[in-house]
Amino acid sequence: MPGLSIVGTGRFLPGRPYTNSDLARVLDTNDEWIRQRTGIAQRHYCPRGQGPADLALPAAKAALESANLAPSDIDYILFNTMTPDHVFPGSGTVLGANLGCIGVPALDLRAQCAAMLYSFQLADSLILSGAAKRILIVGAEAHSAMMPWRDWDVLEGTSDRKPSAQDFERATKHRGWAVVFGDGAGAVIVERSDKPGAGIVGVDLHSDGTHVEELCLPAGFKMRGAAGEIGAEEWLIRMQGREVFKQAVVKLPRSVELVCEKSGVPASEVDWFIAHQANRRINDSVCERLGLDPARMPCNIDRYGNTSGATIPILMDEMWRDGRLRPGQLICLVALGAGFHWGSVLVRI
Ligand code: UT7
Repeated sequence: MPGLSIVGTGRFLPGRPYTNSDLARVLDTNDEWIRQRTGIAQRHYCPRGQGPADLALPAAKAALESANLAPSDIDYILFNTMTPDHVFPGSGTVLGANLGCIGVPALDLRAQCAAMLYSFQLADSLILSGAAKRILIVGAEAHSAMMPWRDWDVLEGTSDRKPSAQDFERATKHRGWAVVFGDGAGAVIVERSDKPGAGIVGVDLHSDGTHVEELCLPAGFKMRGAAGEIGAEEWLIRMQGREVFKQAVVKLPRSVELVCEKSGVPASEVDWFIAHQANRRINDSVCERLGLDPARMPCNIDRYGNTSGATIPILMDEMWRDGRLRPGQLICLVALGAGFHWGSVLVRI
């Protein structure tokens, strides 16, 4: 039975990083709180006028180059994003056009931070069914469009004026989530492999829409007359951070236990646990509950913050390029995001 193998990866982080102290110019926060509560030291933001498809382009090109492939070698695009360029069409078709993959099927996945898990399951099925041979999986996010401040010049340090008291207060009201998210893109190319055991070894995926209100961006077509009435507040994330945190530290370790149980693979045989980076404390807690050495769950949240659907492919690219991730290894992707969508996927790469 065929499976899949990773043949190339890429990432792109736009512009210079913005530190926690940069953020303190536009809302009431400080470096100590952000580092202690989340592990984040800096993040990147998408330039004005660009979107996730723009960030995805250099990441996809880097992945093609690392795999020694041309755009014409790709026969399917899976695009993970919760901050698409447009409400419609999806960002996958925009990326396809910019990359020169015209006519190739492109599908956006709306599973937020857990989208990469769904993409791997889907890619494996597409390959198994014969529908595709070589798939470009991209995760890209431009959260900056929904940040609760207007004072980008102050944040960027190009102006030394102070934000108005009203703007500062509004941004501070949202500081719990606003300091967490960053922008970026990661890309992974997978292709059909006939090596015995290659590809998906086990899947434990879930969604539970009873948690929608705990983490969502309300803007959408549920609102009749939205075109005339939709306001700026609907474009701000609603996140009950503590509740999401509590759910994550229970659901994620349970999911890893389940996927290992179902697959008959002990956690000790997994080379890497590649986890979503929402909060350093969540991943530390997952390791503790599973009795795992945290060194087996790599962390890069300090440099990028939470990049939602882009997080796992960015981390995979870092690990592929520095040699930690190698063909033949068994990896476990683990994530929880809005929906909730959560779970874990074991893949022999
Ligand atoms: O990727 C999708 C999945 N998302 C997640 O998994 C997110 C999970 N949740 C979290 O990571 C955490 O809940 C947050 C990082 C979002 C927030 O951390 P927390 O420890 O839950 O803080 P909190 O919102 O409960 O706030 C605690 C205190 C409050 O002050 P008081 O009321 O205790 O005086 C907040 O006002 O910390 C204050 N606070 C801040 N202070 C400085 C909240 N945000 C900030 C801030 N800077 N940025």
